[in-house]
Amino acid sequence: MGAAIPLDARFNDAARPLFVSGMGTEHVGPLLYNMVRMTRPLRVLEVGLGYTSPFLAMALADNVEEDAADRRLLAEAPQDDMRFSLLRAEHFRREYAPRLHAIDDFSADGTSAPRVLETLQLLGLDGLVRVHKADFRGYAKKIDRADLPLDFVWFDAGGPLEYIAFLQEYWPLIAQDHGLLLLHFTYWNITAHYQGRDHTNLLCGSIANEIKRQQLRAGIAARFEVLSLVEPHKSRQGSVTMVRKLAGTSMCRDRDFGEEMNEIYGALAPPMPILR
Ligand SMILES: C[S@@+](CC[C@H](N)C(=O)[O-])C[C@H]1O[C@@H](n2cnc3c(N)ncnc32)[C@H](O)[C@@H]1O
Repeated sequence: MGAAIPLDARFNDAARPLFVSGMGTEHVGPLLYNMVRMTRPLRVLEVGLGYTSPFLAMALADNVEEDAADRRLLAEAPQDDMRFSLLRAEHFRREYAPRLHAIDDFSADGTSAPRVLETLQLLGLDGLVRVHKADFRGYAKKIDRADLPLDFVWFDAGGPLEYIAFLQEYWPLIAQDHGLLLLHFTYWNITAHYQGRDHTNLLCGSIANEIKRQQLRAGIAARFEVLSLVEPHKSRQGSVTMVRKLAGTSMCRDRDFGEEMNEIYGALAPPMPILR
């Protein structure tokens, strides 16, 4: 299987020149790659191009290869094959022909965004990607309706005002059926003065806080869940907040654990510890 050695030397040699240290995405690129590999999204959007772009595109290309191999295996149905035994046939009813829409207006100083297309061409990945040189604001209507709703979105462009503009326009376009939104730089290094001293801490920034607040205020009826990953060694560009929309199957069931286990497995379960 071609995807057995993901992100090989050829890939890294081609992607590395896009890396701009101040953008802080050295670990985000591989993280996005692996998340796209795991969740196999069909329709992907990136706003704010650079080092991360080839990782998203490569993940889609490797997914296509793995998906084709899985389909061949399903057709052969070798009963003693371990991979076959874990495949879920229902998933393969729909064709897998993913696309990445990548939007950047090339406005930031030092951005490698203008060189992304050339790198994608070098890697033979440009067929999966549509690069839009544009301001993302007011641009959603230009995305082909056939490429909506979005299954996976990576947003890394501008400051708080852009984040709000983005959420206003693009949140409704994210698939309710487990669409993922990843936002960069959501923890802020804030200095507060108290007791005669400056105290500097990495604080859950106002946008990530508001997303979390809305989730918690919705309680058991929340239609999304939130998690942030923070790089504690960085003062900026060191955090990713992930929001996952929830289909009915993933929404919280307000059921007692023991009762539900008994119903599903017909067996008494040990009590679940209370997590605090
Ligand atoms: C932090 S950089 C992206 C870094 C990139 N993800 C990487 O890994 O190297 C932010 C990018 O957003 C773009 N940008 C800023 N404001 C924008 C806007 N309103 N519309 C589109 N792109 C914008 C900039 O041109 C820049 O390339």
